[in-house]
Amino acid sequence: MLAKTRIGAALLCLVTLALLIALGQVPPANAPPPLASNAAAGGDCRQCHEQVWQEWQTSYHSRAFSDSHVQAAFEHFGFDRRCQSCHAPVRQVVMDVTATIELRENDLASGVDCWSCHGLEHGVAAARTIADAPCRPQQVEGFSGSQACGACHQAIYKDWQESRYRTAGKDCQACHMPAVANRPHGRSHLCAGGHDPDLIRSGVKMTVRRDGNELIVSTTNHATGHNFPGERHNRVLYIQVIERDSKGEITLARQELIKGITPFRGESSAEKLRVDQTFEARFPVVGPPAVAEVQLLYKSFPWYPDRDALVVARAEVELEAK
Ligand code: HEC
Ligand code: HEC
Ligand code: HEC
Ligand code: HEC
Ligand code: HEC
Repeated sequence: MLAKTRIGAALLCLVTLALLIALGQVPPANAPPPLASNAAAGGDCRQCHEQVWQEWQTSYHSRAFSDSHVQAAFEHFGFDRRCQSCHAPVRQVVMDVTATIELRENDLASGVDCWSCHGLEHGVAAARTIADAPCRPQQVEGFSGSQACGACHQAIYKDWQESRYRTAGKDCQACHMPAVANRPHGRSHLCAGGHDPDLIRSGVKMTVRRDGNELIVSTTNHATGHNFPGERHNRVLYIQVIERDSKGEITLARQELIKGITPFRGESSAEKLRVDQTFEARFPVVGPPAVAEVQLLYKSFPWYPDRDALVVARAEVELEAK
């Protein structure tokens, strides 16, 4: 997880910043004074952007530092300051996906906050320019696009870059920050991901067909802008087939792992479904006539019991005797 390239890229980043300043991204002489800093997260920005703040507060970005898993991992790494770069960064320097992100000294608990994404050295970054807004939002090229996310989400960014979504101009924000109706130009700051059932279900589809004495279950990543499951190592995706005879007795109960580990069965697979990739699994048809219940299941953590898995897709198939 620790990106060594970041350390090497420090110099490049400084040069880039120097260049930007030289190119005139400095505040005009008569501009109002810039917002102080990152106290920002809870304070400065919230006074005027309450609804955005509420969304952000609900999101995983707000706990990117305080989260107990993150804290435990940081402790394991002896609180190596480099871990902090993506979890509690200083103002936005992340538009350059190869740049080193500076570390923050204060308000660590607010994690990836407003200032982490929006803060420029002076003023606030935004997709459009509203000259008279008190926070002086400035237009920054690419801020509406995946570059705004790529410096921290390196693996997913790479998948996305190599996919048809990049050529189609469908950026991270299109799926993770959809438009919000009651705010002009509003975009959801919930940044929903691998904890959101609707989003997860939207990304893959499952089809079931019979081929002689076999049942073929196909799972396709048809609408996720990157590998599925996306990023976390813990995610588990698997197929479960249960066949019952005409008396309702179970004749087959079987699982096939697509990605993840099964703690008690000792299976593991690091495979993910790449964009548009289909995973095909075959199951025997036992003693038809029978009914097969086929489920595509997702767990955010391998040790959760099967009964708590998210049902991503479900099909019931009548298996006639031939
Ligand atoms: C004193 C009130 C005030 C404060 C404090 C404030 N803003 Fe704003 N901001 C506004 C107003 C008013 C607008 C223009 C209307 C709108 O888009 O909500 C605006 C616009 C924006 C926009 C551009 C919206 C667009 O449509 O492109 C961004 C981004 C933004 N603010 C971010 C921030 C951030 C981040 C902070 C904290 C560092 C902050 N603002 C602090 C009042 C404020
Ligand atoms: C290049 C940016 C970056 C750096 C550097 C980084 N992380 Fe992360 N980290 C992320 C992103 C993005 C996520 C969310 C997606 C994921 O889990 O992969 C994350 C997630 C995590 C999680 C999982 C949180 C959860 O709730 O499951 C832990 C734990 C974590 N990081 C610890 C660390 C530690 C320890 C270090 C230093 C060795 C580190 N990170 C360095 C970007 C980074
Ligand atoms: C400064 C680094 C940083 C930037 C920039 C950033 N993220 Fe994140 N993001 C993280 C970290 C760290 C986490 C993991 C937080 C945790 O679980 O503790 C995360 C988590 C997420 C999640 C997972 C939420 C969940 O439910 O598991 C999504 C989705 C996400 N980010 C989308 C985005 C998008 C879209 C952008 C660009 C608009 C973006 N991020 C920009 C660092 C960043
Ligand atoms: C993970 C990065 C990220 C974080 C954290 C973040 N923003 Fe944003 N914000 C964006 C992006 C990307 C856009 C969309 C720009 C576009 O395409 O219009 C945006 C848009 C906005 C807008 C204009 C659209 C709207 O929804 O009203 C405002 C205002 C804003 N942000 C304020 C804030 C405030 C206040 C916070 C902290 C509570 C915050 N943002 C945290 C990335 C972020
Ligand atoms: C076409 C829609 C789409 C696009 C574009 C997209 N995503 Fe996703 N993303 C999804 C879906 C669906 C999921 C839930 C399933 C999964 O985890 O793959 C997801 C999950 C995630 C997660 C959570 C992964 C986890 O294990 O919890 C993160 C983080 C994320 N996306 C970041 C990004 C970033 C960063 C970009 C841009 C580089 C991006 N996404 C582009 C649809 C999209």
